[in-house]
Amino acid sequence: MLIAIASDHGGFHLKEMIRKYLAEKGYKVVDLGTSSEESVDYPVFGRACAEAVATGKADRGIVVCGTGIGISIAANKVKGIRCGLCTSVEMAELTRKHNNANILALGGRTTGAQLALQIVDAFLETEFEGGRHERRTAMLDQWGEALS
Ligand code: RB5
Repeated sequence: MLIAIASDHGGFHLKEMIRKYLAEKGYKVVDLGTSSEESVDYPVFGRACAEAVATGKADRGIVVCGTGIGISIAANKVKGIRCGLCTSVEMAELTRKHNNANILALGGRTTGAQLALQIVDAFLETEFEGGRHERRTAMLDQWGEALS
């Protein structure tokens, strides 16, 4: 599984930690920046990760900003993206099982590193349940098409 990761300055440290963690676990990782604590604009990085996933260059994405809010909003603007902002392992499991989320958003300033890595594991290891959830995720994808 190839995973695209991206952050702004507020998520930089957590993004670096996630990159090393995933590489140690044997995942292929493409790091789309940012590359320092210097202030940058989170929409740029959310979009870059979302486009990598939407075009099939990456299988899943992980985006991080200070709260995870801004960068998740940015990622969800890209057609075909279902980005879930998660603050617990349960939320990560449910956003995979019910929303078939293809991008995980985390808050570098709001979620501790150890919990964040557990959330990453849950996001990558949990399967979509399908069934009734398929109809709902199809609605999300179709509405994206109708508006674009
Ligand atoms: C940057 O200071 C901060 O606004 C950003 O990282 C994020 O929290 C936005 O939602």
